[in-house]
Amino acid sequence: MARRVALVTGASRGIGRAIAVELARRGHVVAVNYRKRDEEARSTVASIRSNGGEAEAFKADVSKPDEVDRMFESIEATLGSVDILVNNAGWGLISPLTQMTHELWERHLKVNLGGAYLCTRRALPGMLGKGWGRIINVSSVAGIQGLAGLVAYSTAKAGLIGFTKALAQELRGSGVTVNAIAPGFVRTDMGVSFFKFFGEDPDQWASRETLTGKLVEPEEVARVVSFLASDSASNITGQVFIIDSGLSIAGGGLYRFASRLQELGK
Ligand SMILES: NC(=O)c1ccc[n+]([C@@H]2O[C@H](COP(=O)([O-])OP(=O)(O)OC[C@H]3O[C@@H](n4cnc5c(N)ncnc54)[C@H](OP(=O)(O)O)[C@@H]3O)[C@@H](O)[C@H]2O)c1
Repeated sequence: MARRVALVTGASRGIGRAIAVELARRGHVVAVNYRKRDEEARSTVASIRSNGGEAEAFKADVSKPDEVDRMFESIEATLGSVDILVNNAGWGLISPLTQMTHELWERHLKVNLGGAYLCTRRALPGMLGKGWGRIINVSSVAGIQGLAGLVAYSTAKAGLIGFTKALAQELRGSGVTVNAIAPGFVRTDMGVSFFKFFGEDPDQWASRETLTGKLVEPEEVARVVSFLASDSASNITGQVFIIDSGLSIAGGGLYRFASRLQELGK
């Protein structure tokens, strides 16, 4: 497999970390982006290096254009131009729309959607110059079905799906593909945080409400991303891959979950 330069945003923890580790295992050089947790980012890099992989950490808030520009300058100077971009950095806070501040609304859009726009815009010229590139956007089932209590988050994640499809069309014939993944509940800080609010064990919830009976593991998401980033996926573009233990077709489990979120926010 060809050795490429991959940038994974939000790779200090959770899904992003698992994606960074998997891409490095496949022989790619990985830029590990994060926002503030230096220790966790160092740990992702150390874990990759201890398995013989190549990685460097790059601190930048993806919602800030100047920080994104500086990060790309540093990546290009140290690792080369980005061939594989995984727009994973994301964040969501329970807040029903009636209680939403303008600031909170804007922050959701800036981090989850604006970050993907800024990184993609910066990565594209290099990809188009080489006639090869992979962009994978981490959306959510919230962006497909909507989640009460998480209107701003759902809006941003739905926006990422429109971004994916429209950009895939714009990049017709360029060798650059754009796809999205839409996870359900994944065993990460963010994924289990909601269950903490409910005081419920996430595994028990998953055994009751999903078709497979299990939470999604970050490594499972990472393997799908790694496939989409490979040469084997050259004919897949503009698509959304749902990885949710069958939750979204499991007879209302997602809706029941969202209703509880909305109650919490009141
Ligand atoms: N977990 C789930 O159940 C689930 C389901 C559907 C979709 N998703 C999506 O999957 C992605 C990863 O989620 P996760 O569960 O792995 O989250 P997580 O455990 O909370 O980790 C979030 C990561 O994003 C980084 N980050 C947050 N804001 C950032 C910013 N402005 N700039 C750069 N990095 C930023 C964090 O960096 P620091 O460590 O420095 O804070 C961290 O590395 C997100 O887009 C999320 O919306 C998650």
